[in-house]
Amino acid sequence: MIRPLIITSLTKTFDTASGPHIAVKDFDATVQPGEFVSLLGHSGCGKSTVLAIVAGLQQATLGGVIVDGREIDGPGLERALVFQSPCLLPWCNTRENVMLAVRQAHPKLNPKEQKELARKYLNLVGVSEFENTLPAELSQGTQQRVAIARALSLEPRFLLLDEPFGMLDSMTRFELQDLVLELWEKDRKTCILVTHDIDEALYLSDRIILMTDGPESKVGLELPITLPRPRDRRELADNQEYYRLRKVVIDFLEHHSRQFTQEKAA
Ligand SMILES: Nc1ncnc2c1ncn2[C@@H]1O[C@H](COP(=O)(O)OP(=O)(O)OP(=O)(O)O)[C@@H](O)[C@H]1O
Ligand SMILES: [Mg+2]
Repeated sequence: MIRPLIITSLTKTFDTASGPHIAVKDFDATVQPGEFVSLLGHSGCGKSTVLAIVAGLQQATLGGVIVDGREIDGPGLERALVFQSPCLLPWCNTRENVMLAVRQAHPKLNPKEQKELARKYLNLVGVSEFENTLPAELSQGTQQRVAIARALSLEPRFLLLDEPFGMLDSMTRFELQDLVLELWEKDRKTCILVTHDIDEALYLSDRIILMTDGPESKVGLELPITLPRPRDRRELADNQEYYRLRKVVIDFLEHHSRQFTQEKAA
């Protein structure tokens, strides 16, 4: 049985020169299998901290993250992370970059099978033609496609995305949002996306988790996004519900990120 991912009473305190800084306090959320959830909030509210703890890259000070009924204690191949920067090895071509992940996740495959798997994922994100190209010769958008291929090649159940489109121009950002949506529609991996782009969160998500401002940030509002799927950017431009939801998010971010209550969203 596939169980939800549970973030429970998550608190993260950083030791800083001026004393302990409680970035996140008592953050609770449950993400259902196959759900696409966005974490949205002002810069510095703790979105990346929460995601890094879910990825197992940082440790919670209190509370934790439960996957498959067990508290995680570090990174795992079932949770793949994509960052804002593609983080590709500059001396390896795109296929070799993906191969590094494939070898880690599929050590029992022979080298030929591993190569085929890397190609499969490069093909899935539409960059097959660049398999022998070094990252520096590619646009930022294409590099980010390779980073997505590398994450998918782990065949994870959870795709964790920390502002993966943040460095892209708006047209490329739309293309990559569409790619992620298309991939998600295909196999419904559980996705957690960190973003501060309201339209991106609305376009992609089943639910937006809005975080209060830090320090001691936590969940301020959980907003279900019931817009019909498959979604079309142009159709949403005429959708009343889209604008209602957008207004709820803007109200939260502009005025209420500290004291907004769930009732106001109704
Ligand atoms: N290693 C660290 N040491 C001390 N403070 C930290 C550390 N990492 C994060 N913080 C602080 O914790 C808070 C949350 O940071 P975090 O990077 O999670 O925010 P964010 O919501 O992802 O911001 P952004 O939208 O700018 O990426 C911030 O106040 C930040 O300065
Ligand atoms: Mg961040």
